[in-house]
Formats: sequence, structure tokens, C-alpha cells
Amino acid sequence: MMWPYMLPHPTSVDRRAALLELIAMFGAAPWLNAADIDYDDPLYGPINVFDFAGLAKKKLDPMAWDYLDGGSEDEMSLRDNRRAFDDLIIRPRMLVDVSKIDTSVEIFGKKVAYPIFLDPTGGKNCFFKGGELETAKGAAAAKALHITNGGIDEFIETGKATDAWWQLTTGGNIMTKQSRKAFTQRIEDLGCSAICFTVDIMHVSHRERDMHNKLERAWCESGLPPRDALGKMPKAKNPWRAGLYPERQSPTATWETLAELCSETKLPVVVKGIMTAEDGERCVKYGAKGVVVSNHGARQQDHVGATIEALPEVVRAVNGKIPVLCDGGFRRGTDVLKALALGAKAVCVARPYLYGLACFGQRGVARVMELLHTELALNMGLAGVPNLAAIDRSLVRWRHEHKG
Ligand SMILES: Cc1cc2nc3c(=O)[nH]c(=O)nc-3n(C[C@H](O)[C@H](O)[C@H](O)COP(=O)(O)O)c2cc1C
Repeated sequence: MMWPYMLPHPTSVDRRAALLELIAMFGAAPWLNAADIDYDDPLYGPINVFDFAGLAKKKLDPMAWDYLDGGSEDEMSLRDNRRAFDDLIIRPRMLVDVSKIDTSVEIFGKKVAYPIFLDPTGGKNCFFKGGELETAKGAAAAKALHITNGGIDEFIETGKATDAWWQLTTGGNIMTKQSRKAFTQRIEDLGCSAICFTVDIMHVSHRERDMHNKLERAWCESGLPPRDALGKMPKAKNPWRAGLYPERQSPTATWETLAELCSETKLPVVVKGIMTAEDGERCVKYGAKGVVVSNHGARQQDHVGATIEALPEVVRAVNGKIPVLCDGGFRRGTDVLKALALGAKAVCVARPYLYGLACFGQRGVARVMELLHTELALNMGLAGVPNLAAIDRSLVRWRHEHKG
């Protein structure tokens, strides 16, 4: 049996024989049944998200790499998002029957194969031509839930997109009753299963790597940053600048905007960008049907700490009334397991699949998701939790707990 979402590849006979031998040795472990894979295909060179990151860095224009990988100002939260996972320790359980591992999760009435979703990301064309569509195809191949930034309506209409997809809004298109109606009607008709409302980007932060690079954000909409034959950048007409006093022409969204959006659509609205218990409570109060604990991949407000540290207080505040998701720094199956133990319904990733996208387009997106999924399944097997219902708070402890 192949993993259901594995992309077709020619077989390599010698390797196949060797792998079949291994399978005979270990029994019917599903991750060894990938005997049909051609491991000479460069797609299979990287074996984890970090390998994909290294390859993406080599492949991308340095300016595009900085845009993908960087955070805001001191990049303190960027480091925190990763560092905090080291402070969480898994408490594995032995002698549990883990012959069958079920990673599936149900959210808003849809069953999804595993609780790792694709976060929304802008500027994908900087990493791969037609980036949003490539991502949507990769997500469909990987049977993953995809939160799209939009622009893939035609693909959705073919019926080939992933069954569960959510549409992103950052507020601009929901500020009046009329614009909300136009927006929600269109995506309800297309069959979207939720709306993701990002609330942490009312102003755009200083991403200082991009400022030093004199990146023009518009370049990422059209494609890779332009270079002349000598590899030189054209002079940016409108580079990202520091020292501009923040102001917006029109009012930004408030909790009332959220309440109006929630009351006017039949789709569940998931608020992305929550970092405190108080805002978690407000999400419930104003009608949200889900919340993503997120610091925007440490690309907006800096010095907010790690999302995995904020997760428990939001879970407590929401108190099971709506699902809590979490993103920020997830690179390993063990990271995902830790978040599930702290009460997350699922996690989302952005940079990991963007690394895959930059390296191999849709196949890279699918492969990264597959690696994360199999790492999660494997670590569930090692930790003695055969399904998501078996995962609870006792599966982890903070490093400082129970020292003696
Ligand atoms: C290149 C890039 C573009 C992003 N664009 C958006 C966006 O348009 N809307 C949004 O809500 N979040 C955006 N994000 C944030 C992600 O959705 C997500 O919250 C975060 O990156 C998750 O952390 P991770 O990259 O460490 O997985 C972007 C992130 C990156 C890396």
C-alpha cells in the first residue's frame, strides 16, 4: 500500500527489492511500504523540514529567501517560536497497542487525514511561479486542509482541490455590509468550509531584512525579484522603508466587525492571530467558531513570546467551546504532538511547505506535508498514543516541572 497521497513515480528495481526486504524484517509498518518511490528523484533527498529549508535557501534568490524566512525587528519571537519546543518534554507510554495509528481529525464536520494544515501565505510567486495554485495542488495531493489566500477559484471549480479549504481575509473586504456579502456569498458558493480572519496585521511590521535588502513587496506578486544579466537588482521604486508614521486611510476591523461577519455568513469564522486568554474569550463572545494561536510566524508584533507558550492560556480561556489551533515554528512531528497534548485541535504550518514549494513546486509542498504527517504518526506510535483522542495534557511536561 502506498500512502494515499503519494505522487506517482517510476520504480527503481534494486532499491525496491531492498526495501521489500526491510518491510519483511519489520512487518507491515506503513512508512516502509513506500517501495514504489524512486529515491534517486531529488525530491527524496531532503529527509526533514530542515533539509528542505537548506535546499530552499540554496535555490532561492537571497532576497526572496529573506522574505520567506525572516521575522520582524529583533526576530526575538522568531527564535522563541522554535526554542520553546525544547522546553516541552514528551512523557511516552509503554505497552499500548500501537499497531494501527489514526491521525485523522474532524473539524467543522469535515474529516481531515491529519491535524497539520497549510497556513495562508502571501507572496508565493517570489518562491515559485504560480505559487498559490501550486500550493493548492500540493495540498490536494497531500490530502491536507489548505487555508488559501485566494485566486484559485478555477481550480476549486474543477473539483480537484482539497475537500476542506478555508478562505483568508485580513479585513479589507469585510468592512462594509455590502463587501461582506459579496465576499461571503462567493466563497460559500465555491464550497469553502470556513473563513480564516487574520487579525494581527492591521499595520505591517518592520521586517528589517527586507528593508536592508530594499525589497519591493510588489515584486513578490508578479514573480521572483527581477535581476539583470549580471545578477543586479533594479532600483526599487517603492522599497520597504523604516521611519514612516503608521496610519491607515480607513478604520480597521474591531470586535464588532467580527460579530457582524459571523452573523452574516453560514460559514464558521476562525480568528487567526490570538495570543492571550482575554482575546480568546472575546473570540467566543463575538461569535468566532475557532481560533488560531499565532504570532504571524513572528512577522508582526515582536517580543510576544512563543505561540506554544501562549497556547495553554488560550485553551483554558476558550474552555472547549470552540476549537483552538496553533501555528508558529512547527517543524517536527514531535512539535505537533506537543501542541495536541496542550489542547490544540490541530496545528498549521507556513514556512515548511514554502520551503517545499521553493524547491519542487507542488511536489515539494506535498512531500513536506507527507514528511510532517509521517513524523507525527511515528511519534504517536513511539509515545503510545494510537489516535488523537488518546493524547492529553499528561503526555507532556515543561522542563522545569517535576525536576526532583
Ligand atoms: C512568506 C510568508 C507570508 C505570509 N503571509 C501571510 C498572509 O498573507 N496572511 C496571514 O494571515 N499570514 C501570513 N503569514 C503567516 C502564516 O500564515 C503563519 O501564521 C506563520 O508563518 C506560521 O509560522 P511558520 O512559518 O513558522 O510555520 C505569512 C508567513 C510567511 C512565512
